[in-house]
Amino acid sequence: MIEIAPSILSADFSRLGEQIKTVERAGASLLHVDVMDGRFVPNITVGLPVVKAISRATQLPIDVHLMIVEPARYVESFVEAGAQMVSIHIEADPHAHRTLTALRAAGAQAGIAINPATSLSALEEAIRFVDFVLVMSVNPGFGGQEFISSSLDKVRRLRKMLDERGSKARIEIDGGIDQDNVAEVAGAGAEIIVSGSAIFGAPDPAVALRELREATVLWV
Ligand code: DX5
Ligand code: ZN
Repeated sequence: MIEIAPSILSADFSRLGEQIKTVERAGASLLHVDVMDGRFVPNITVGLPVVKAISRATQLPIDVHLMIVEPARYVESFVEAGAQMVSIHIEADPHAHRTLTALRAAGAQAGIAINPATSLSALEEAIRFVDFVLVMSVNPGFGGQEFISSSLDKVRRLRKMLDERGSKARIEIDGGIDQDNVAEVAGAGAEIIVSGSAIFGAPDPAVALRELREATVLWV
């Protein structure tokens, strides 16, 4: 099943609760929350208090994408704050096994995220310990960037790698996805599709979300 995960990064933060309700009613499967620290990526966004507030405001599972250095220091706190899924970057953690194991022990789905220029071979061992892999299809840090087209092949190769190793991990893809490329992205093997500006940057986010879902169904 393909799931669409709206990224609140492009939402209007002055009326975040309302924007979340809109996508929830329009059929979002989960909510993607981008946590940035100004060190792993150039931008700074939101942290634990905001995740806590969101978890009170929605029934949707919360998918926290940690773009921070030393993610091990915070993973359990994000689960306590209400995250059901948490991803850390392979580039940010030399002890990813320990962190991913801690995430699962805390009761969350553990994800490993990978930047566009990082080889899939970096994930070879880590995929044994994850519930999902987050393929970045832009360089993390900002919404509204252009989709890097080689990500499609990366998703296909990752799907093969997971299948060959008997892994049930799902593939999530994040960055530059809109109504025009979502079908191809789904066809390549991504099951969780993150979209920020194509939803919250649209005049009507509910309509934009439905269009994305319909375009996905057309492919599958
Ligand atoms: C970028 C973030 C994304 C971002 C996607 O670093 O990880 O989740 O919100 O936004 P769009 O869909 O606009 O590329
Ligand atoms: Zn993200």
